[in-house]
Amino acid sequence: MKERITLHDKSFKPYMTYEQVIAAIDRLAEKINNDFRDCKEPPVIVCVLNGAMMFTSELMQRLDFDCELVSIKLSSYSGTDSTGAIRIDMNLTKDIAGRDVIVCEDIVDTGNTILYLSNLMKEQGANSVKICCMLLKPEMYSKDVKLDYVAKEIPNDFIVGFGLDYNELGRNYKDIYVIE
Ligand code: IMP
Ligand code: MG
Repeated sequence: MKERITLHDKSFKPYMTYEQVIAAIDRLAEKINNDFRDCKEPPVIVCVLNGAMMFTSELMQRLDFDCELVSIKLSSYSGTDSTGAIRIDMNLTKDIAGRDVIVCEDIVDTGNTILYLSNLMKEQGANSVKICCMLLKPEMYSKDVKLDYVAKEIPNDFIVGFGLDYNELGRNYKDIYVIE
């Protein structure tokens, strides 16, 4: 892990190591395996690009039941603030009507994105929708959507790495860094 990284105009210091992230994902995968191991129809994992790419990849490698992967690309953040306005940059890569869906998101902050996704999956005719996120900022979360699987709760700080970006930079770091 680096002592400090600089992205655009901001610097970031170490927050969570890759090993800590993986330990949290291991625990989460075990819960999901317990819930889905005996499922009759393979569920669809919906990876919310770009942020959840690394998380979804690590999580899926630990799932021991048949599942499909579908992606969608949304954007809402500008700089270090949630804009509230959500845009679909790329729609669902496959129809999810009638399917059991597990939405995989990198981080839940205000919950705007997850509320939007939850409604979208229902509109698209999903049979059931579970929400799975790597990180949650509970101080900020104010929506009624149930967060079925959360790998780790964190304080309300802006972080980057392991898929998370600051204006598109920082996603490639395997460890997680927090803004200084
Ligand atoms: P929400 O809609 O306010 O819950 O924000 C969720 C989205 O904002 C996530 O999908 C992330 O892309 C982004 N986001 C929230 N917090 C952070 C952060 O600390 N670092 C980087 N991106 C974040
Ligand atoms: Mg995201």
